[in-house]
Amino acid sequence: MKDKLRSHLWFHLVYICVALSILHVLGKSSGTNSQSYVIACGSSSRGTDSDGRVWMPDSKFLVSSADSVPAAAAFQDPSLPSTVPYMSARVFTSQASYRFSVPSKTRVWFRLHFYPCTYSNLDPSDAYFGVTANEFTLMNNFSASITAQALTQAYIIREFSLPLVESGDLNITFTPTVAHDGAYAFINGIEMIRMPDIFEQATMVGFSDQAVTVDVSSLQTLYRLNVGGQYIPPTNDSSLTRTWYDDTPYLFGAAAGVTSEADKNVKVQYSPDVPEYIAPLDVYSTARTMGPDPKVNQNYNLTWVFQIDANFTYVVRFHFCDFLLSKVNQRVFDIFVNNQTAQAAADVIAWSGSEGAPVYKDFAAYVSDGPGDEQLWVALHPSASMKPEYYDAILNGLEIFKINDSNGNLAGPNPVPSQMLVHAEAEAAKKFAPSGHSGTGQVIGGIAGGVLGFIVVVLVCLFVRHRRNVANGTESGVGKWLPLYGSSHASTTSKSTISGKSNGSSHLSSLAGGLCRHFSLFEIKHATKSFDESRVIGVGGFGKVYKGMIDGGSTQVAIKRSNPSSEQGVHEFETEIEMLSKLRHKHLVSLIGFCEEDGEMILVYDYMANGTLREHIYKGNKPPLSWKQRLEICIGAARGLHYLHTGAKYTIIHRDVKTTNILLDEKWVAKVSDFGLSKTGPNLNQTHVSTVVKGSFGYLDPEYFRRQQLTEKSDVYSFGVVLFEVLCGRPALNPSLPKEQVSLADWARHCHRKGTLEEILDPHIKGQVSPECYKKFAETAEKCVADRGLDRPSMGDVLWNLEFALQLQENPGAAKFEAEHVDATAVSGENQDSNPNAAFSQLVNPSGR
Ligand SMILES: *[C@@H]1O[C@H](CO)[C@@H](O)[C@H](O)[C@H]1NC(C)=O
Ligand SMILES: *[C@@H]1O[C@H](CO)[C@@H](O)[C@H](O)[C@H]1NC(C)=O
Ligand SMILES: *[C@@H]1O[C@H](CO)[C@@H](O)[C@H](O)[C@H]1NC(C)=O
Repeated sequence: MKDKLRSHLWFHLVYICVALSILHVLGKSSGTNSQSYVIACGSSSRGTDSDGRVWMPDSKFLVSSADSVPAAAAFQDPSLPSTVPYMSARVFTSQASYRFSVPSKTRVWFRLHFYPCTYSNLDPSDAYFGVTANEFTLMNNFSASITAQALTQAYIIREFSLPLVESGDLNITFTPTVAHDGAYAFINGIEMIRMPDIFEQATMVGFSDQAVTVDVSSLQTLYRLNVGGQYIPPTNDSSLTRTWYDDTPYLFGAAAGVTSEADKNVKVQYSPDVPEYIAPLDVYSTARTMGPDPKVNQNYNLTWVFQIDANFTYVVRFHFCDFLLSKVNQRVFDIFVNNQTAQAAADVIAWSGSEGAPVYKDFAAYVSDGPGDEQLWVALHPSASMKPEYYDAILNGLEIFKINDSNGNLAGPNPVPSQMLVHAEAEAAKKFAPSGHSGTGQVIGGIAGGVLGFIVVVLVCLFVRHRRNVANGTESGVGKWLPLYGSSHASTTSKSTISGKSNGSSHLSSLAGGLCRHFSLFEIKHATKSFDESRVIGVGGFGKVYKGMIDGGSTQVAIKRSNPSSEQGVHEFETEIEMLSKLRHKHLVSLIGFCEEDGEMILVYDYMANGTLREHIYKGNKPPLSWKQRLEICIGAARGLHYLHTGAKYTIIHRDVKTTNILLDEKWVAKVSDFGLSKTGPNLNQTHVSTVVKGSFGYLDPEYFRRQQLTEKSDVYSFGVVLFEVLCGRPALNPSLPKEQVSLADWARHCHRKGTLEEILDPHIKGQVSPECYKKFAETAEKCVADRGLDRPSMGDVLWNLEFALQLQENPGAAKFEAEHVDATAVSGENQDSNPNAAFSQLVNPSGR
């Protein structure tokens, strides 16, 4: 009896072990849980991506493999986050399907990954196809290459949420477009993640008696934003692996409110109504509110604008969590969607019951076709009629989904690429068409990736994100470029890059040999806790930047590590080390040393405690800088640039001047950083350098762009944009604005000429700027962004004018007289002296006389 029981127990134990190990294998092999599939199409073995997710081969899901071939991409774009799943594809020349079995009554997140490139000698521009999932049409006549071009992205990710009501099978069918000669379909990766049913009904805005049954519909994710917070990678979002983006690029106008973060005493508490899978903690513990001034708040709407396709219904999900106030009727506001009231008198505490309790609300709106209708506006305004304690509004997160129409269709038209990009691509193609190469595909692939990369990469964050696919980017995708808006201390940043042909990471020592310190990899690992994620303070195309401690914890440093799996950036690393090891200046960031071991390329810099200039103007959870601080920072940065142009043996052109490349140390001293694109040479002083255009969009000198000839006046142009950014408190490019306002340089210049520039002044500094100072500053900025380089002042002039503006600010009356006198001497004296500060020591301080 006893024995029988024992053997029974043993049997059970063994059974459980076997079951567990099977589960383990299943769980591992298929991604996040046993009902999920993560598949690298056209791949014959498992592969791991840069986040450590395992992708399975696709063949066992193919319904028939007759008309499909596995193919390898001919070219690896440097912006690809990882070779898996993008470097392999499955190509279909006629209709073909995948079949996944899923339990019925299941909802799944379904993601498609496309990397348009040459596969099996097929031209990427011939890939035109439709995709259906059971009865739903997800895409129609889709061109991945046109879409990628319009979005200035190397690859595309589309995310859908599909209800599987009846059948237990999910059939994904690819159909090449019949009307297009030689059309084929392809796919690089498929993710299918089982999800809880998080959708119910959404009230139609403007028709309180009508609701959309979201639960039976399929959805396409268009936008998913962590409002007032930062980019959240899929690895930080439970098993649903969603990506959340920063909302800044979608904010309308200069009045962007303020961001705040829950302090440690307030715990964000999930509930059965709002469980953790609705949105991660980071979404609910950061927020954007309107600001402290009730009068200002009553005069504006906190507004976001999104590009969408007409003729569809959209569900807008608002995520709220008030961790600042705790009582009903303290903060009450109205919510508008496309100019209609979605919700009057919203009171987060009344909904959620307490401080720190998350709550979400869904509204639906139909967007019809008509001029200006391809946008969705979301706005918040204090509800004065409720007489709340504070006239304010709050938002923590926002998701926008497109719902299938009555035919079960979700597909919209292909986007139209910007003419400027098409032109740039054509030019680049001419220049770089390798004579010995056979296929055009290679050229196009290479260009889309490499050469266009340069301009494009920055756009990746801007244009890209605001077009439809935005929210579908991956963790790695758009996210990798996010430092533009992303990480709070992007102490170095992504930039547009061309994939320089480089032969590996070997020459750092010979470049910088005795000039700066050589660290061992052990020291670096020790300094960063083995590259612990919690130490990451910035992410860029080259890899990550960590905060570290060296010399037994006595010195804080920023450690920039080139992504070991990519060769991208090798050239830039070399340039940076070459430049920085020779330059020392108060207003240039200092390189402390480097590490070159085990194929790693690591640079070590002074740590800049206050991060980037941008995050103190309109991005980041920081109180905005005062006008005087801004002025002093601009002066410091101008000094650094002036030194680059005139102070060293040869002129150095920075080529990537922007607010994220101006860093601030603990005493708010401005330091110019990121010399990866810099150019120098003996002939730069007199003439110009003819080169491939690099730099960041929004800051790019139009003359340089047209003529591809580089002079130091290109830096002056970019610096002019920085000055306007500082004055107006908005990004250099904001694609969500009406066309004429998208480019800050153009819009500010236009306003300045019409005399309306003051109207777009950053509300945070309105009232702080003296009229004389404002006039000088605005004039200087406008001259910097003159169309022709010849009409722009030198960096020395700019510096002088800014110093003068500062004096006008501090002592408006006295400076008048000095203006006429000092101007001439200072200007004629510039550039003569190799010590940048000497030229300005002549500058008289009027208040001192
Ligand atoms: C939207 O629908 C209208 C009316 O059916 C049609 O004329 C228009 O072309 C559609 N627009 C788009 C962008 O599909
Ligand atoms: C805010 O938006 C609503 C809806 O579009 C509009 O009626 C109202 O005038 C706006 N208020 C301000 C101050 O712009
Ligand atoms: C989306 O498709 C489902 C299933 O076909 C349908 O029941 C639903 O009404 C559609 N949604 C809309 C908004 O037409």
